[in-house]
Amino acid sequence: MSRPLADRKIVLGVTGSIAAFKAPSIVTRLVAMGADVVVVMTENATRFVTPLTFETLTGTEVIVDMWSEGKEGVSSPEEALARDDHLQHVHLAEAADLALVAPATANVIGKMAGGIADDFLSTELMAMTCPVIVAPAMNVNMMESDAVGENVEKLKTRGVIVIEPEVGRLASGAVGRGRLADPDQIVEEVKRLLLPSQDLAGRRVVVTAGPTEEPLDPIRHIGNRSSGKMGYAVAERAARRGADVVLVSGRTSLEAPAGVRLVPVVTTEEMKDAVMAELPELDLLVMAAAPADYRPAEVADKKIKKSWDRLTIELVRTDDILMGVKEHRREGQGVVGFAVETEDLIANAKDKLAKKELDLIVANDPTVDGAAFESDTNVATIIGRSGFEESVGKVPKRELADLVLTRTIAELEWGGDGTE
Ligand SMILES: Cc1cc2nc3c(=O)[nH]c(=O)nc-3n(C[C@H](O)[C@H](O)[C@H](O)COP(=O)(O)O)c2cc1C
Repeated sequence: MSRPLADRKIVLGVTGSIAAFKAPSIVTRLVAMGADVVVVMTENATRFVTPLTFETLTGTEVIVDMWSEGKEGVSSPEEALARDDHLQHVHLAEAADLALVAPATANVIGKMAGGIADDFLSTELMAMTCPVIVAPAMNVNMMESDAVGENVEKLKTRGVIVIEPEVGRLASGAVGRGRLADPDQIVEEVKRLLLPSQDLAGRRVVVTAGPTEEPLDPIRHIGNRSSGKMGYAVAERAARRGADVVLVSGRTSLEAPAGVRLVPVVTTEEMKDAVMAELPELDLLVMAAAPADYRPAEVADKKIKKSWDRLTIELVRTDDILMGVKEHRREGQGVVGFAVETEDLIANAKDKLAKKELDLIVANDPTVDGAAFESDTNVATIIGRSGFEESVGKVPKRELADLVLTRTIAELEWGGDGTE
């Protein structure tokens, strides 16, 4: 039997809805596809279904209580449950590939929207950095209320995927919108997120990420605040979509995504050399790094002493990597750039797109709320060579990465099977 979700770690949140009785059938389907499922229940959910039901189906302890003697872990939910500590919610959130709340009560949706973390599930959801799916189920008047409507919208703008409830006969006997979506539809959505299409199969994608560092002396360097998160997200998503990925990265604190070949570099020159070495074989280059534009004209071979009140350092231009790429790239190779600007963002981005003959540019201003270098989210405008322009509100960097890849594939008119 095929197990397409083997090794995928899913946290299923079950809340106090009458539809909780359908959650075991969701678990059964996910487990049958090989997923590691950890069920987290609210206290109220246990009034509808017993934890024993889920423990039997998953073979894993169900978590309800924030304060029970936890069992911790880091690399998998099982481990997260097997070790003894009180930071279980953090470890489980780190280990999860996906969180699904089904059924989701009006209450838990409100807590997620409002940033309330007063039990294990709501705390866990706040700590999640993986994709989150919410499947609401409730009485039609609750579902149609302004409070729930606004909260659902809030979650959507934060990147939470909401599976709309069905219209049908509800537990109260009323007919209306509020019935939990069909378990098959919920499982399909899980599969869609965890098993993205292989539209980059057969493609070689090179991604640059992080800052470069230009040495001043053996101790110091000139650097910038790039965290590398955006580039690492692009590399991860490209690999998930079947590409053979090389990640040319400046120094960051991030781990290379699974299946990606990491080429570590320090200076802009090293980054340029690494990109130029990969250029002949690549199909797509995504330049998400923040290489230094200037470097010290001279690098002192000994530590510069604190001997002067003022110290002037002469800087010279580094080589422009994209200009080098423009000169040497072949027909059919795609190039995507990122423009980080704090003024005239769109005009500057369009200028860079034209000058460097890019296929696509992603423009962002790191001073905007939700778009900072260190942030897990970004706010951007994607501009294509063909003239399209798309503003993307605050979304997780991983989601923006997927969108950039999708728009690039469209701009380059690539088929999903490695053909043009
Ligand atoms: C029989 C019964 C059925 C309920 N069904 C739902 C429901 O489908 N959706 C919902 O939002 N609340 C429902 N509630 C109300 C929730 O249980 C209540 O708001 C609770 O505080 C939710 O807690 P939780 O979100 O922590 O699980 C129901 C309550 C009862 C008594």
